Amino acid sequence: MSTATRPVKIRGTGSFTPSKVLTNEDLSKIVDTSDEWIYTRTGIKERRIASEEETTSTMGAEAAKKAIAAAGLTVDDIDMIIVGTMSPDMPFPSTACLVQTQLGARKAVCMDLQAACSGFLYIMEAATGFLCTGRYRNVLVIGSEKLSSILDWQDRTTCVLFGDGAGAAVLSLAEEGESGGIIDFSLGADGSNAELLYMPGGGCAIPASESSIQQRHHFLKMRGREVYKHAVRVMSQAAIEIVEQNGLRADQLSCVIPHQANMRIIEALSTRLSIPIERFYLNLDKYGNTSAASIPIALDEAVRAGKVKQGDKILLVAFGAGLTWGAALVEW
Ligand SMILES: CC(C)(COP(=O)(O)OP(=O)(O)OC[C@H]1O[C@@H](n2cnc3c(N)ncnc32)[C@H](O)[C@@H]1OP(=O)(O)O)[C@@H](O)C(=O)NCCC(=O)NCCS
Repeated sequence: MSTATRPVKIRGTGSFTPSKVLTNEDLSKIVDTSDEWIYTRTGIKERRIASEEETTSTMGAEAAKKAIAAAGLTVDDIDMIIVGTMSPDMPFPSTACLVQTQLGARKAVCMDLQAACSGFLYIMEAATGFLCTGRYRNVLVIGSEKLSSILDWQDRTTCVLFGDGAGAAVLSLAEEGESGGIIDFSLGADGSNAELLYMPGGGCAIPASESSIQQRHHFLKMRGREVYKHAVRVMSQAAIEIVEQNGLRADQLSCVIPHQANMRIIEALSTRLSIPIERFYLNLDKYGNTSAASIPIALDEAVRAGKVKQGDKILLVAFGAGLTWGAALVEW
């Protein structure tokens, strides 16, 4: 086995969001809520909702096509697909296998990785490890979620927060003499707090039954206040640690791409990192929290809007169910 020491580059990015928009106003007709409550508490104005035909795999495949094109590659160049999702098309086979066949990427080995909203950073680090073995040349990483399928549309404390969408990137080793690439990762997890944010039903602990359906076990459950406190603490810690460990100062970061869960969490992060909010890329007003898709959608939009340029140092930082969290430093 050969092990490579060159850094891993993000060669191209892509994203896809469904065309159906669900505004806060629309939501106020479904549950007892208001645009004012949702916007002031979260910063969300609207979110996208997938159609019946649109699934985690189809949205992931659309995002992937754009990422592969942006990388200047074809599907035949992709030798691994990793999908990060907590709303797979089905428990098995993996959503990555379903994406593979939709793309026609027959040479790719496929797997899913589940780290909830931190999923994209986890799959980026996994992809980096695989690339460093020297056995894979181009790994397609996809964060995709159809969260509307696991939301309880009678629970106003959760259904207003999330949306559907997908983001993707192609990762490969830097060429000889090529500058930039992923500098470092810092991932973490704390399973003792699993029940702060979870979906109890559908696995082997509570398989589908009449009673599990009556008890609404097949929907996402969350203790919002507690999640909020953990999110601010661990995201700030992960971000501060990775910047310091790499001998950088926060003011050297051109752009921060945070998991888009809640504007107040992002503002708290901005204060703790001493990085002005203007340097954060934000789109949660348009999409809400799209879990594993949130960072790759934001990254793709930032790149296409010219907000991330060659040589820029950027920070990606996320938090999610598990609990899980993570940060990544990248030189573009
Ligand atoms: C969910 C969240 C916005 C709630 O805000 P909060 O200020 O903590 O609000 P609380 O849960 O304490 O609820 C306050 C009141 O608003 C009510 N409320 C909850 N959701 C509501 C909604 N959509 N519309 C109107 N009122 C609502 C509650 O019932 C409660 O009413 P009460 O005081 O009469 O009991 C906030 O806790 C949060 O953002 N947490 C993090 C969630 C997150 O990001 N999760 C994903 C992580 S990846």
